[in-house]
Amino acid sequence: MYMGTNWQACPYGMTDNRLLGLLEEAMHDEKHDYKKYKMMMDMTDNKDIVAQISHAYEDEGKHYGMFQALYEELTGKTAEVATPELDRYSRLIDAVKSSINGELEAVELYRKIRFMLCGKRHRDMLYEIITDEQEHATRFTYLYAMLK
Ligand SMILES: [Fe+2]
Ligand SMILES: [Fe+2]
Repeated sequence: MYMGTNWQACPYGMTDNRLLGLLEEAMHDEKHDYKKYKMMMDMTDNKDIVAQISHAYEDEGKHYGMFQALYEELTGKTAEVATPELDRYSRLIDAVKSSINGELEAVELYRKIRFMLCGKRHRDMLYEIITDEQEHATRFTYLYAMLK
């Protein structure tokens, strides 16, 4: 039976604590990856490798701003997270390997956040971020094969 477009009420309020907690986690992860990819670019002189990492680096900066804007639109409050500490790597390939997992975990987290958002524009923002992270996972998989 067709029930119209509003049959499923959005179960999460604008300031649902679980949603806000996940947005803070997302901002933390974006800031972490932004810092990590900068460190990784500094570990090599190979221009092709730097170009691949740079795509992800720039996107993470964009994503941080998008999550921050989303948080502010939902709460009216400014969100800022502390700069995370990084694991250190002696070999670039190990940092690349952990980045593949990090990107795939980000996709899982952001899909969860997308389910909790009601507005089309907000859901579209998450769709853009999720597809960026999938692209990063592909880029790092390529780099892993290249460095192996
Ligand atoms: Fe990201
Ligand atoms: Fe990413």
